[in-house]
Amino acid sequence: MADSASRAEEQVLELELDDIQGTLLRLRPTPFTGAYFLLRIDDPADGRQMLARLVPLVASATQWWDPPHRAWLSVALSYSGLRALGVPQESLDSFPDAFREGMAARAEQLGDTGGSSPEHWDAPLGSADAHVAVSVFAPDATAMESLLETAREKLRDLPGVSVIYRLDASALPTKRTHLGFVDGIGEPDIEGSGVASLAQGMGGGDYGYLPGFGPTIKAGEFLLGYANEMGRLTPMPQPDVLSRNGTYVAFRKLHLRVAEYRRYLKDNASSPEEEELLAAKMVGRWPSGAPLVLAPEHDDPAIAADPHRVNDFTYHEQDPEGRRCPLGAHIRRMNPRDALADSLVDVKLHRALRRGTPYGPMLPEGELEDDGAERGIVFIFMGTDLVRQFEFLKSRWANDGDFVGLGNEKDPIVGSNDGTGTFTIPKRPVRRRLQQLPRFAVTKGGEYLFMPGIRALKWIAERGT
Ligand code: HEM
Repeated sequence: MADSASRAEEQVLELELDDIQGTLLRLRPTPFTGAYFLLRIDDPADGRQMLARLVPLVASATQWWDPPHRAWLSVALSYSGLRALGVPQESLDSFPDAFREGMAARAEQLGDTGGSSPEHWDAPLGSADAHVAVSVFAPDATAMESLLETAREKLRDLPGVSVIYRLDASALPTKRTHLGFVDGIGEPDIEGSGVASLAQGMGGGDYGYLPGFGPTIKAGEFLLGYANEMGRLTPMPQPDVLSRNGTYVAFRKLHLRVAEYRRYLKDNASSPEEEELLAAKMVGRWPSGAPLVLAPEHDDPAIAADPHRVNDFTYHEQDPEGRRCPLGAHIRRMNPRDALADSLVDVKLHRALRRGTPYGPMLPEGELEDDGAERGIVFIFMGTDLVRQFEFLKSRWANDGDFVGLGNEKDPIVGSNDGTGTFTIPKRPVRRRLQQLPRFAVTKGGEYLFMPGIRALKWIAERGT
């Protein structure tokens, strides 16, 4: 039998786009309206019937710009969901440990402690009842409702399937996150995905990702069944038909403490301009998305609007000491690009696809008091190795500063800060160090999911028939 490495080499690099769920490879056009649902399966046969009926609604990567019902539906399954659907035990046993344990059990590794620990999560997030996750996005409310009505109709005579959770999450009127920044710019360029050419057809999207800015990453980092950055196939749950063209998803509901964030900036700055600069230093980009490496002094919306420039920067030569973009800034930690070139770390092994969707109403501009509303970001992270990608980023790069010589300083935006942390801004002749960083993002729940290819969804649906 050929070993994984030679099997990987034999592959022609052409992705099976019609089998891959579109959300994996494609950006959502904006504006959009959307929602995440969790379903519980009490009867495996009803669960499989539900899957069989939903599959025709799932937009593949080839259908992305002309999806069924003008809306994008994706399906992912938790470990308990695969079991509830009757996937054979030998298949279940072939999934990796972290996925089988589930996100709540990994709280320590993820920094989900204190107010972010699973005992404070919103039910049923992180519980064994969260079996199937369905996301639905549409360009407008009419298309959204039309798809939802079709889906409801398909579930009506299936009493063994219940919708146990819904979280509405749509683009904000500003097209930015609740912290005021454009998100979704830095994304890996995936070998064979065809994103570059297809992005031209996106129409409403803020950014198509174009090739050439940063290295292309092997498809096997994001899709099971293709060679990864080590020239091998990432271990595939068995049988192959179940895992090919699938990936893992870290789904997180992150509450953002916007009033606290604004107050912190105000308390540490002497003018609105300085507030904006401190906020940009923490993120590594200006609110428009312009990167500090290219625009160190002030925001430059022209760079942000130019897809050829917005990602066209590195750190090693352009900003080795972090005087433009601090070593501990969010984007520099989460994707150090070439900054670790002198170390043994291969940054390509720690990339993943991200989709962030805001939920909850905006806190009015300038408001510094918390209004008690729930608001934040549904954070989706997709890749073939949860431990080497998502958990590594959280534990080693977000919640530890050693890799950039910052001791135990944490990511200022997503780190598990507790009011005692610092954020260092290198500058000559003196550096600035912000103190007593509060936690701005609180975990409200989450789950590790498996997002199968479309053939695999059918394979699961046909078990037992
Ligand atoms: C509290 C929730 C979060 C907020 C508000 C947030 C915000 C942002 C913003 C504004 C950017 C810059 C835009 C861009 O480059 O796309 C960004 C980039 C990024 N974030 Fe986050 N983020 C959050 C959580 C996370 C988490 C939990 C991770 C990973 C575990 C992460 C990983 C990344 C990565 C990989 C990039 C792209 C860096 C690059 O390629 O240059 N983010 N984020």
